[in-house]
This record gives sequence, C-alpha cells and structure tokens, in this order.
Amino acid sequence: MTDGGEGRRVLLTNVGELVTNDPGADRDGGPLGIVRDAAVAIEDGRVAWVGPAPDAPVDDDVEVVDLGGRAVIPGFVDSHTHLVFGGDRAEEFSARMSGRAYEAGGIRSTVGATRAATDDELRARLAAFVAELHRQGTTTFEVKTGYGLSVHDEARLARLAAEVTDEVTFLGAHVVPFEYREPDGPGADAYVDLVVGEMLEACAPHSRWVDAFCERGAFTEAQSRRVLEAGRAAGLGVRVHGNQLGEGPGVRLAVELGAASVDHCTYLSDEDVAALAGSETVATLLPGVEFSTRQPYPDTRRLIDAGVTVALASDCNPGSSFTSSMPFCIAVAVRDMGMTPAEAVWASTAGGALALRRSDVGALRPGMRADLAVLDAPSSIHLAYRPGVPIVAQTWKDGRRVA
Ligand code: NIG
Ligand code: FE
Repeated sequence: MTDGGEGRRVLLTNVGELVTNDPGADRDGGPLGIVRDAAVAIEDGRVAWVGPAPDAPVDDDVEVVDLGGRAVIPGFVDSHTHLVFGGDRAEEFSARMSGRAYEAGGIRSTVGATRAATDDELRARLAAFVAELHRQGTTTFEVKTGYGLSVHDEARLARLAAEVTDEVTFLGAHVVPFEYREPDGPGADAYVDLVVGEMLEACAPHSRWVDAFCERGAFTEAQSRRVLEAGRAAGLGVRVHGNQLGEGPGVRLAVELGAASVDHCTYLSDEDVAALAGSETVATLLPGVEFSTRQPYPDTRRLIDAGVTVALASDCNPGSSFTSSMPFCIAVAVRDMGMTPAEAVWASTAGGALALRRSDVGALRPGMRADLAVLDAPSSIHLAYRPGVPIVAQTWKDGRRVA
C-alpha cells in the first residue's frame, strides 16, 4: 500500500480518463471536467496538480504509479446511510418480494436488535461496512442514528458513528418507539419532547446534522419542524427524509428550513419541484430504496430539467435498501431513473458533496482531498454499462490507498 501522508508525493499517471468535476478542466466544458491521458499529482494527501500526463511535474522524490489507462473518478460521496444497527431484515425483504408493501413500522424491529447489540458488536459491524464502502470506491459517507430511539441508545449510536465519520446525523425522529406507542404509552408528542430535549443534548456533541422522517406513519410536519428547529438551534445542519411513501410536507419543510438536502423525493407535486428549484436544498435520490421496495422510481428528469441539484446516495439500511454500492445506485439511476451516465456519476460525487455542504471532496482539482476511485475500465460510463461487476480496482483516501 502506498502511504500518501506527511510530505509524501505521489503521481498517478497513465490515467485513460480523469473525471475532475471541474468544468474548467474540460476542453468541451462538460460538467464532469474530463481530461484524457491524464495525471494527478498528490502532496500531503491533497491534489496538487491535474492535467495531461506529458505535462505532469516529475522529479526524483515523486512515487510514480502507472494506472495502465484506467479511468479515475473522485471518490463517491454517499450522503445518506444508516450503518449503525443490529440484525437484519432478510425475512421482511423476502415477504416484500412476495407482494407485501414496505412500511415505516419495520424500523422498530431493527431498533430491538440494535438496543440488544453491544458497543463492540456495532463497532465491528461498522468497521466491516467501512471496508465494504472503500472496496466500492466510497471515500466520504454520512451515518445516521435512528435505531436507538432512547437517550442512552441514540447517544451510543452517535458516538460509535463518530468513530468512523465526521458526517454524523442525529435521527432520533426516525419513528416513535414501541414504549411510547403502546395504548397506555405517553404518545408521539411526548416522544418528540424527549427528542428535542435530553436526547438532542446527548447526541449533538457527536453530530453535525439533524434529520427527521417526515412521513405518514412516522412524524407529522409540526413534529418534524420542532425536531429540526431544535437541532438547528443546537448548531446542527438540517436534512430531511421526505416524500418517500407519498406526497407530503417534507420537501416544503426542508426548503423552508434551508436544509442541505431532502432525501427520497419519490412523490413530488409541481409545487415541491418549484420550491426545490428555487433553493439551495439538494434533492437526494436513493435508487436502492425503490429497487428493494418495488415502489416507482422518482422522476429525475423532472427535477434536473427544472434546475434542481440532484445527488445519489445508497441509503444503506437493513429495511428499505441494504446496499452500500454507489456503482449499483448509478446503474439503477441510469437504467430506471432517466439519468445519463454523466449525470449519475456527477450526482454520486459532486452532488453528494453539495448535499453534505462539503467543498473539500467530490472533485479532483488542486487543493481538494486526494480521494479517488480507480476503475477497471477506460471510462466512467462503464459504471452504468457494466452493472454488478466489481469495477472499482483501487480506492485512495487522503492520498493513501485504502482498498
Ligand atoms: O431512509 N425512511 C426512513 N428510513 C429508512 C428506512 C429504514 C428502515 O426501513 O429500517 C430509509 O428508507
Ligand atoms: Fe434513510
């Protein structure tokens, strides 16, 4: 493995196609900023230079890595995952494939398994997911809480997630847990009191974001607003799960609160599309969800053609989308959601970075983190063209090879 740490200089050369996501780098001016027969110079874990290979700065101190004409893209930015959980729901998936509908209530069975898991069990599972992400070219990923739903367990999940990423999202408002829903339980509003009080206080120190599942069967607009406003007042950025199972207030609420992203966006009214188009809020689409719930895919063309910024993410979770593969999401988005290969590659790299309001990842230009994926293919089109093939040959994070 190559160490790209302090003072280390590496030159990746013989790159057949380099996706920079820097439109200025592309003579044709495309959004992917493609440079052919390219090289990338890395110094101290950052991109120092990109351009045509013959112009690359070379000297005796540089370690040269010949990539044999392979394509290089920015590492995937997976802006939506739920990777801290216990158990799985394979039986629920199987029942769904036999015709049963997806319901938000399945979340509660994962809450039971997660509460029963020890810290070390959850930590080992997370470590395995991180390795899985790296193998598939993902270098930045967000992780949500939301399977603890008690002060103790939500804080535990936030703390464990923070061990593997800076992008932790507090999702205490995922669903109302059993103990609050029982006929003689305190009810949803009392649970929201807990979320905006003691639970937020315990989770905020480990989190960058607050999220709420604003959907029938989860939280109402008023309840979601309380949670998101409280999170914002505690210094967290806002993101929203909305419009997954039907039209509803999620998208409008996200735009009104200046959310970085509203995720799912499967069922949108014309007003929702117009609100997104006039905002800084990214619409994050999650192809794995529609794939594994057999719901209709979101209408991506309607969003992109209206000028909405679209990101793609895995939503990796044991219920609605148990894939961590961004290449898979790209393939589905291209095949079934009307995206071009270039749009899908951009949405899963630069789009994800915008959804996390990150300016140091999602593109390969001088100053950015040297986070990238080397494809066993001559162009990024192959991500959609060769579905199901292990196409990521190498993954580099902060100038160091991690897979
Ligand atoms: O993003 N929509 C809410 N939460 C997850 C599903 C979680 C689950 O089913 O366990 C999602 O799809
Ligand atoms: Fe989700």
